[in-house]
Amino acid sequence: MENSIKKKLILIGGGGRGNSYTKIGKDLGKFELVAVAEPIKCRREYIAKLHGIPENMCFESWEPLLELGKIADAAVIATMDRDHYAPAMKAIDCGYDLLLEKPVSPDLSECEEIEAAAKAKGVNVLVCHVLRYTPFFRALKKLIDDGKVGRIMNIDHIEGVGNVHQSHSFVRGNWGNSVRSSFMLLQKSCHDLDILQWLIGKECKRVQSFGHLSHFNERNAPADAPERCFDGCPHLESCPYSAKKLYIERKNDGNWFRSSLTKHLDVVGDDVAMEALKDSPYGKCVYKLDNDVVDHQTVNMEFEDDIIVTFTMSAFNLGGRRIRIMGTEGELIADAGSPIITYNNLLTQTTEQINIDDAIASDSIVSGHGGGDSGIMCALYDLLEGDADAGMLSNISISVKNHRIVFAAEKSRHEGRIVELCELD
Ligand SMILES: NC(=O)c1ccc[n+]([C@@H]2O[C@H](COP(=O)([O-])OP(=O)(O)OC[C@H]3O[C@@H](n4cnc5c(N)ncnc54)[C@H](O)[C@@H]3O)[C@@H](O)[C@H]2O)c1
Repeated sequence: MENSIKKKLILIGGGGRGNSYTKIGKDLGKFELVAVAEPIKCRREYIAKLHGIPENMCFESWEPLLELGKIADAAVIATMDRDHYAPAMKAIDCGYDLLLEKPVSPDLSECEEIEAAAKAKGVNVLVCHVLRYTPFFRALKKLIDDGKVGRIMNIDHIEGVGNVHQSHSFVRGNWGNSVRSSFMLLQKSCHDLDILQWLIGKECKRVQSFGHLSHFNERNAPADAPERCFDGCPHLESCPYSAKKLYIERKNDGNWFRSSLTKHLDVVGDDVAMEALKDSPYGKCVYKLDNDVVDHQTVNMEFEDDIIVTFTMSAFNLGGRRIRIMGTEGELIADAGSPIITYNNLLTQTTEQINIDDAIASDSIVSGHGGGDSGIMCALYDLLEGDADAGMLSNISISVKNHRIVFAAEKSRHEGRIVELCELD
């Protein structure tokens, strides 16, 4: 692709997500990153080098970058959950179209303010509900829209977070404490409630939720476990959450875990990881942290037309999403880790195994979140090229609407009662 048709981006928040999106944009040949705002020096320098950004376009925070006004086609905002609102509002004011990480904000009124500001300014805000852009969920959506299941009656959907992923991100990591980040259903499962609403294509009316933090707490700490894994813990070799296993021995699984620990986006050695483990929460016993987000939760949802949906989020599995969609004419059973969708035809009483490999191959989406990360970067490009439909899939209004289901469910969990969506109006 010629340079002349590349779209220019600025990046606010050069961590794991910001690095992924901008690297994918570069690799696709569709985007050029022209400026970065990131306080952590090694991250800022890594991104600057990768994209050839001059020093005067590298900033320690978003404010001076946005003081320059609009210098690119779009801004990627990939700061932490509570740090989306301020740069998003300023970037909108500058006239930027945005690729904005989810959750839009842990405060519903801030979500609505961003939506209103974007509308008033006439800019697009694409929220990173990357599941919508995966070949897997696109294939399911098409089967539903083609009428394979008839009228949907029930959906059962499970989000297996995985016990190790839970311990890394939602106990030791950025998202363990809801005051510092946001609550579990919003930060992790807003993708799932979004995808369910998208598949059904109708309004959610009311919700009910249970959820607890029952395992990753002090009550479950072995009596002989010290505060930190390397302070002589007798379970160092056997505990599934041992820092030695996850951050030293598991390093070849990818750089993701180590990057959170060391802050380096590139591959670093054991010595750097060991040094970081000395005072980082990633070196602490998983049962002795200040985490407060739930480790298992359910949400029951009632949609228009008597459609009933159950959603389960649980840490206690190896990870992965499973869905079962039941309608008057057919049933779809699918596992996001498999290219085969089982289709039970209720009219002919036959079973078909639908292979969505073809959909994946023809989509040319191959990386990150089952192809979702590349998919959303392609949609952003098309949107900036003037294809309005490209932005429809996860624009800010759709996202805010689906965030409302999440906020209602969390209210239900706290108040122990069914919550009507209209209560949030
Ligand atoms: N869409 C998805 O599937 C998905 C997956 C994971 C995370 N997320 C979301 O993406 C966001 C970022 O997550 P992450 O894993 O990249 O976290 P991260 O901590 O790796 O990255 C956030 C970065 O923002 C930087 N930052 C802090 N203050 C800043 C400032 N004033 N100006 C500019 N940058 C600043 C931090 O130094 C950090 O590098 C979170 O909101 C998270 O919930 C989305």
